[in-house]
Amino acid sequence: MSGTSLDGVDAVLADFADGKTAILAALHVPFDADLREELAALTHPGADEIDRAGALGNRLAAVYADAVSRALGQAGTSATAVRAIGCHGQTVRHRPERGYTLQIGNAALLAELTGIAVVADFRSRDIAAGGQGAPLVPAFHVRAFSAPDEVRAVLNLGGIANVTILRREGPPLGFDTGPGNCLMDLWAARHLGLPCDHGGAWARGGTANADLLERMLAEQYFNASPPKSTGRELFGPDWLERHLHPGLDPRDVQATLLELTAASAARAILEHADATQRVIACGGGTQNLALMQRLSQRLAPRPVEPSDRHGLPAQLVEATAFAWLAQQALEGRAGNLPSVTGAKGPRNLGAIYQR
Ligand SMILES: Nc1ncnc2c1ncn2[C@@H]1O[C@H](COP(=O)(O)OP(=O)(O)O)[C@@H](O)[C@H]1O
Ligand SMILES: [Mg+2]
Repeated sequence: MSGTSLDGVDAVLADFADGKTAILAALHVPFDADLREELAALTHPGADEIDRAGALGNRLAAVYADAVSRALGQAGTSATAVRAIGCHGQTVRHRPERGYTLQIGNAALLAELTGIAVVADFRSRDIAAGGQGAPLVPAFHVRAFSAPDEVRAVLNLGGIANVTILRREGPPLGFDTGPGNCLMDLWAARHLGLPCDHGGAWARGGTANADLLERMLAEQYFNASPPKSTGRELFGPDWLERHLHPGLDPRDVQATLLELTAASAARAILEHADATQRVIACGGGTQNLALMQRLSQRLAPRPVEPSDRHGLPAQLVEATAFAWLAQQALEGRAGNLPSVTGAKGPRNLGAIYQR
């Protein structure tokens, strides 16, 4: 899994036998700064995109193959023992409203490099069926985090944040709530020269600007009804620039961006599922302790807990979800939830590159 944060690759070796989820190996391979920069550039229109995407797809396949090889080494497993790699790929454009989404990563090359079958391009089929193609993790959240006696929200704090509402009755709800870490990462890179604001410490030293927050929250996306999904196309540098005004202290801007993530996610949960009793958080944003604290305050008295307390480490949930979606693909089962994506019906997701 490599998500919108462009932080790198999360790899898990998972065994789903007997309806359980066993993690046999797990690791993170960070992208080097150059790869991250080129991928970030490709998420916005520019010159020579086809050749750049081709070359970057090949580079990604090599990074993915390295992650797979390390995971196999960690578990002492051979490639032949692995049924398939679920490879999300790197999203460089997500435009469901225009009928397409594009994840690069050269799955064919990954199959050649590893000698393992690869399932890729999970999102296109859902979009072709009239859906958003996102979020796709909710079906796995249902499997991993449902409790019959409790209404739960699963909040994935990636570059973009998405929520799954596990209700007592009726199909799950789910949608992207807006920015997760992406705007905070962008601002930390610009002012601290760091890939992220570690623990949210820098934001904690500032004060959220009420006027700036209010103007950001007026963004139409936050008030749109689901099904909905978003990406760096919207919540990128231009969006941020449009809202800033001169004279703001960079620390206060960071505190405001943190508040924006907390406010948009908490409002989404309260507005669509006020009955939520517990919030299970996953993704890299759970490492941002200041963000977790603000989410807890905004969602009180509901506990906001990292998924580690529910059997799956927060940083591994999304990668594990795509391993499971690969299994769904190979078994001929559906991967999407029409109640979430808005697709016409359940669909078998992904393109399969045989071993
Ligand atoms: N120690 C930390 N402090 C603050 N933020 C962190 C920390 N560790 C990870 N993150 C955030 O999590 C992001 C990665 O989360 P991830 O779930 O992988 O998102 P994505 O799926 O978009 O790649 C990083 O870009 C960073 O913003
Ligand atoms: Mg990531």
